[in-house]
Amino acid sequence: MNVNGTHYRTIWPDPDNQQSIKIIDQRYLPHQFVTRTLSSPDDAFRAINQMLVRGAGLIGATAGYGMYLAALTADPKRIHEDLQAAAELLISARPTAVNLAWAVHRVLTAVSSLASATEIRSTARFAAEEIADEDARYCRQIGQHGKEVIDTIWHRKGKQCVNILTHCNAGWLAFVDYGSATAPIYAARDDGINLHVWVDETRPWNQGARLTCWELEQEGIAHTLITDNAGGHLMQCGEVDLILVGSDRTTHTGDVANKIGTYLKALAARDNDIPFYVALPSSTFDWTLDKGTEISIEQRSGEEITQISGLTEDGRRETISITSASTRAKNYGFDITPARLVTGLITERGVVPAERSAIHALFPDLCSSP
Ligand code: MRU
Repeated sequence: MNVNGTHYRTIWPDPDNQQSIKIIDQRYLPHQFVTRTLSSPDDAFRAINQMLVRGAGLIGATAGYGMYLAALTADPKRIHEDLQAAAELLISARPTAVNLAWAVHRVLTAVSSLASATEIRSTARFAAEEIADEDARYCRQIGQHGKEVIDTIWHRKGKQCVNILTHCNAGWLAFVDYGSATAPIYAARDDGINLHVWVDETRPWNQGARLTCWELEQEGIAHTLITDNAGGHLMQCGEVDLILVGSDRTTHTGDVANKIGTYLKALAARDNDIPFYVALPSSTFDWTLDKGTEISIEQRSGEEITQISGLTEDGRRETISITSASTRAKNYGFDITPARLVTGLITERGVVPAERSAIHALFPDLCSSP
């Protein structure tokens, strides 16, 4: 995506230093565009764990590069042991997005039969770059398939503006480029479809308010920020034509883990007969779990709910409490939308119903039992 006239991916090898990787520190957006340097697997762990980077695809890409950094910093005499330790560390950074473990294992597999440290390092770098490039390419393809969904609604409405509701940030910032849920929006806009996006604020991290709105603004897409609970009302009023969200993990049976609050949107969509689509690359499928209820749901600190923080105009972070000091809070990061509430999954290979047989038929090479 272009920021101030320059094209950026969300993660890239440092052009000035072969030993490090650059990221955007998303905690400062939209007020400041801050980049950081990762030089070790510990740096990559912290970037994921403390949410400098976030979103399933980008977490995966960061983990891939984290493994490359682990290969660089490992003791050549015990490089496989060091890589294994880094893999365990990185996988522990956050529990829900399956792309994390997927990317780590992809790099581990690529180097598993190699002995020389030099070869392991160059292979790990190649694998990490492949993960990032593939992520960008797949998101682009998701855009091409997903725009057909928007196009159908556009024609059904007699070429009136299509109103799309999205939750959280499944955009460029959640991936390496384009995004999953935003890619069809950009592709439809490029085809001349008139559209408008309702953006859920997505408490408590406000990924919708801080990140999705900023991204849509950079792309010149008409959008309106709403509170997390406004979607049902807008659906009842006929103001939503389509719901388009991303996913952090989707079982091979079609149950979708996504940012907390997604399930309630899907329920309201069903009650109001509104299509509910999930956009995801194949790296977000979990081929081992049969039920969404088996997915590990991240719980973060309650302070993220009892406090609000933001940047002042001069760039200082300020945090204020909004509850009494004794209020207890539970902070669930994700929820599960059962497959029966999902109209379709938009993947890099096409749009499929959220059903085991259809998913397996589209990805016979990836599912363990076709
Ligand atoms: O906690 P986050 O910001 O890492 O959550 C990820 C998300 O932004 C969403 O759940 C998103 O819709 C799917 S990630 C592609």
